[in-house]
Amino acid sequence: MTRTSGRIELGSITQHNIKQLKKLNSVVFPVSYNDKFYKDILDVGELAKLAYYNDIVVGAVCCRVDKSDNSRRLYIMTLGCLAPYRRLGIGTKMLEHVLKICEDDGKFDSVYLHVQVSNEGAIEFYRRFGFEPIETKTQYYKRIEPADAFVLQKTLRVVSKK
Ligand SMILES: CC(C)(COP(=O)(O)OP(=O)(O)OC[C@H]1O[C@@H](n2cnc3c(N)ncnc32)[C@H](O)[C@@H]1OP(=O)(O)O)[C@@H](O)C(=O)NCCC(=O)NCCS
Repeated sequence: MTRTSGRIELGSITQHNIKQLKKLNSVVFPVSYNDKFYKDILDVGELAKLAYYNDIVVGAVCCRVDKSDNSRRLYIMTLGCLAPYRRLGIGTKMLEHVLKICEDDGKFDSVYLHVQVSNEGAIEFYRRFGFEPIETKTQYYKRIEPADAFVLQKTLRVVSKK
């Protein structure tokens, strides 16, 4: 298959297609997300998107703004793509969308996410975009093995400590 043969587009998540997001997340992630997660997603606008490959839903990204410790960070809650559609640039399209939001906004200190320590593919994917492991959270996951997570972070602006 030619890698560039498909058309990749991002689309909004609405009450009419949120079931597709639920289905996709249930297939892609070993963790399940509750009703509040999906209720809140309908209000985050551009921070949540479905990814289409030739008009078929194959991926999704969901983020939220995290304001704590005097910093403003973007947290990637989920970013995933169906296995048969990986390595086609769909993850890149979703991550570039998120990074563009941060760039346009100009007030985010960093972007971060949690990843299972065993998830080498995702760690390499994020490393390519300048994310680095900054912390290991032991027993972060309740129902999956390994339970430990890395926090991967990309710094966007250095906060003055004054
Ligand atoms: C991580 C993930 C989102 C990557 O999506 P993708 O659409 O395959 O990513 P891309 O095609 O844009 O990959 C871009 C580059 O990242 C790197 N990369 C992606 N997946 C990789 C893997 N499994 N192993 C090594 N490098 C990888 C490669 O350098 C790749 O470029 P290349 O294909 O030209 O070599 C996807 O594997 C996935 O959905 N995984 C399950 C969900 C998950 O773990 N999400 C992360 C936590 S939120």
